Amino acid sequence: MNKVTIFAVGAFIVTALSCQKEQTNVTENTTTEIPAGKSEAIPDGEILKNYAAEAQQLLGSQLKQKIAEGGPENALQFCNINAIPLTDSISKKYSVSIKRVSDKYRNPDNAANPAELAVITTYKAMLAAGKMPEGLLKDNHYYAPIVTNAMCLQCHGTPGKELAEKTHLKIKSLYPQDKATGYGVDELRGIFSIAINP
Ligand code: HEC
Repeated sequence: MNKVTIFAVGAFIVTALSCQKEQTNVTENTTTEIPAGKSEAIPDGEILKNYAAEAQQLLGSQLKQKIAEGGPENALQFCNINAIPLTDSISKKYSVSIKRVSDKYRNPDNAANPAELAVITTYKAMLAAGKMPEGLLKDNHYYAPIVTNAMCLQCHGTPGKELAEKTHLKIKSLYPQDKATGYGVDELRGIFSIAINP
């Protein structure tokens, strides 16, 4: 029952999310383990993948709009107030619990728990090996990678470089314990963690 099922089905990569935006389709098929016995009562990996994609889409489109309206500082305020309520709205819609969590979190409410940290470690190792991580179903939880693109670095990049000083100051005032800077592109920013029976 502890089997990890990797869904190779047109693997997707949640490139963005949070405040974020695009998604990349990986066509290559990787190892797939067939689960021993699937319960019909719970949504399967394909459905859960769509939930994560919908949350990503919702956050990404709004983030993009806020950046266009008033730059990253304006968008920061938006994410600060709305990121969690937006993912919660998708959770409610599908009666699951969708979270975005990270090992290097900005909002302490998004800190990964030990099971999530284990997935993060696995995904990072895959990226380091040049493999795109995929959605994964384990112990009634679905996980999907959140990978950075250039747009993310406006708020998650290196201070003084991609991350403007002004934006960084605002981040620090909103999140005094922020750990989520210093990222480059194509790095694991965090994961979607969906609890199937919340
Ligand atoms: C306009 C600034 C901004 C941009 C651009 C941005 N983020 Fe964020 N991000 C934030 C803020 C602010 C939070 C904290 C939200 C909260 O309080 O829930 C956050 C939180 C997150 C989280 C949740 C974990 C945590 O650290 O709290 C993830 C994952 C994340 N961002 C990924 C991304 C990715 C991937 C991109 C690019 C596709 C991106 N972000 C672009 C501002 C931004």
